[in-house]
Amino acid sequence: MAQTDSKHLLIVYHSQSGRNESLAYAAYRAACEAEPDMDVRLLRAAEAGTRDLAWCDGVLLFFPENFGAIAGGMKDFFDRSFYPAIDRQIHLPYGVFICTGNDGSNALQQFERIARGYLWRCVSEPIVTAGAPGSEVMVQAEELGAAFATGLKMGVF
Ligand SMILES: Cc1cc2nc3c(=O)[nH]c(=O)nc-3n(C[C@H](O)[C@H](O)[C@H](O)COP(=O)(O)O)c2cc1C
Repeated sequence: MAQTDSKHLLIVYHSQSGRNESLAYAAYRAACEAEPDMDVRLLRAAEAGTRDLAWCDGVLLFFPENFGAIAGGMKDFFDRSFYPAIDRQIHLPYGVFICTGNDGSNALQQFERIARGYLWRCVSEPIVTAGAPGSEVMVQAEELGAAFATGLKMGVF
């Protein structure tokens, strides 16, 4: 948990062809707009680590499914941070958004198993979408970012 009064929101994404990146950015912009005083950090999974998890009060994750699994770049973030986060008892509320080609069920199943290992709490319905995100999907990402930020600010998670 962050040590200051203001809440910290971390958004971590992995994206190869830009879809999940654009959704993460949409969530980031909406979170900043909904809670202008909140410190919101948007990071590629490759740049994120345990220190970022330790800094935040809640985390939003965006990534694709590749080969019926969590995309490797996101998996690497979990691989690197899992035991350090457990050791430091970083137990976070989370939201997850998976923008895939046509499925996503295995990636979500794997992620939920990993999240249980971290002792993270799912506080919003996981979102799985297929194909290039249209305006409705972008709005879903915005709503997730705004609602998650407001929930954190209000201390409901
Ligand atoms: C190597 C590779 C494997 C993929 N495997 C799957 C898959 O198993 N299931 C699926 O739904 N989509 C699969 N896809 C499609 C991506 O998940 C999809 O294009 C996604 O929206 C890409 O997100 P990004 O633009 O953020 O990288 C695969 C894409 C690549 C490049």
